Amino acid sequence: MPLPTIEWEGDITGRIRLIDQTLLPTELKFVYCDDIKSIWHAIKTLMVRGAPAIGIAGAMGVVLGAKNIHTNDTTTFLKELRHVTEYLGSSRPTAVNLFWGLARMERVALENKDKPVKEIKEILLLEATKIQEEDKAICRQIGEHGAGLIKEGDGVLTHCNAGGLATADYGTALAVIFKAKEHGRHFKVFADETRPLLQGARLTVWELMHADIDATLICDSMAAHVMKLGKIQCVIVGADRIAANGDTANKIGTYGVSILAKEHNIPFYVAAPVSTFDLTIKSGEDIPIEERSPEEVTCGFGKRTAPEGVKVFNPAFDVTPAKNIAAIITERGVIHKPSHKNIQSVLGNHGS
Ligand code: MRU
Repeated sequence: MPLPTIEWEGDITGRIRLIDQTLLPTELKFVYCDDIKSIWHAIKTLMVRGAPAIGIAGAMGVVLGAKNIHTNDTTTFLKELRHVTEYLGSSRPTAVNLFWGLARMERVALENKDKPVKEIKEILLLEATKIQEEDKAICRQIGEHGAGLIKEGDGVLTHCNAGGLATADYGTALAVIFKAKEHGRHFKVFADETRPLLQGARLTVWELMHADIDATLICDSMAAHVMKLGKIQCVIVGADRIAANGDTANKIGTYGVSILAKEHNIPFYVAAPVSTFDLTIKSGEDIPIEERSPEEVTCGFGKRTAPEGVKVFNPAFDVTPAKNIAAIITERGVIHKPSHKNIQSVLGNHGS
C-alpha cells in the first residue's frame, strides 16, 4: 500500500486518520474521526473496511471513546467504556476481528483498573497502535507462509479486496501475491469485480497495479468461464470469520467461487490472521451475516439500475464450507484440509 490504511494522529487528545475507501480509485482522500460516532459511521459506510482493518478501527475507536469520557473515577470510566465497545460493535456484525479488537481493548483497561484514568487512556492508545503494528507483521508472515502456493506461470483468482486497504498496510490474500512477486515469481492475477460494492474493481486492481502485478479485472459472472479456459491455477481469498470447523465467511460470492474451483479441480485457499478465527462458533451456520441496504443493489454509485420498489435481498457475506477449502494460510502456518482437528493443531485451543 502506498499509504497506511488507518492511523492514530497525535497523543491521547488526537484523532484517527483513514483513507476513505468509498472514493477509490478516482480520489485518494483522508477522513478524520474525532469521536465514536464518526468512526462508527466510517465503519458502517465502508470508508474503512476489511476484517483486520475494522479490528484496528474498532480498537482506535475505543481510544476516541476513552478520550471523551470525562471522569477521574475508574469504576465510572470502565462502565462508560463498556458502552463505547457495545456501540462500536453494533456497526458491522460479520467480521469477528472487530469484536476481537474491542474485547482486547476492554481486557487491557480492566487489567489496569488500579491505575488513574489518565494513565489507562494512555495504555489504551499504546494497545491500539500495538494492534496496528502487529497486523503489519502478521500480514507479512501470512505472505511468507503462502507465497510458495503460487507457482511460476500461474493464474490466480481473487474475490473482493483482502489487500493493504483491508488491513494495516499489506493484506492477507494479496500479501501472498505480493510475497510471491517479491520472490521473483511471474504469474497473472484475475480479480472479480465483486458486486454490489465493487471492492475488486475499485480497490484490488488498484492495489495490484500499484504493485506492478499483472492484473486482469473480470465480472463476477465470468469466473466459471475463465476457469474453464484454463487461466486459473489457484484461488486465494480473505476471510471475515472462520468457525472452529474451518467454515469461512467472506464477501458475498466467495462460496460460489469455491464451488466453481471444486468443479474445475482448482485449489481454493483462504488467507487470514488468527484473529479472524472464532473458535466459540462450531460451524459456519452460526456466523451472523450482515444484510445491507437495497440501494447498494438497485442504485449503486448513484445510478438506478432496477425499477423503484423492487424487492431486494442484499447479504454482504456468505459461508464457504471447510470441505471446499484446500488450506487456510495464517501467520502461524498453513492449515491444510481445515477441520476442527487440523485447526487446533496449528492454533492450539485458543484463537489468539
Ligand atoms: O464488506 P467488506 O468490504 O468489509 O468485505 C471485506 C471482505 O470480505 C474481505 O475479503 C475480508 O474482510 C478479508 S480482508 C483481509
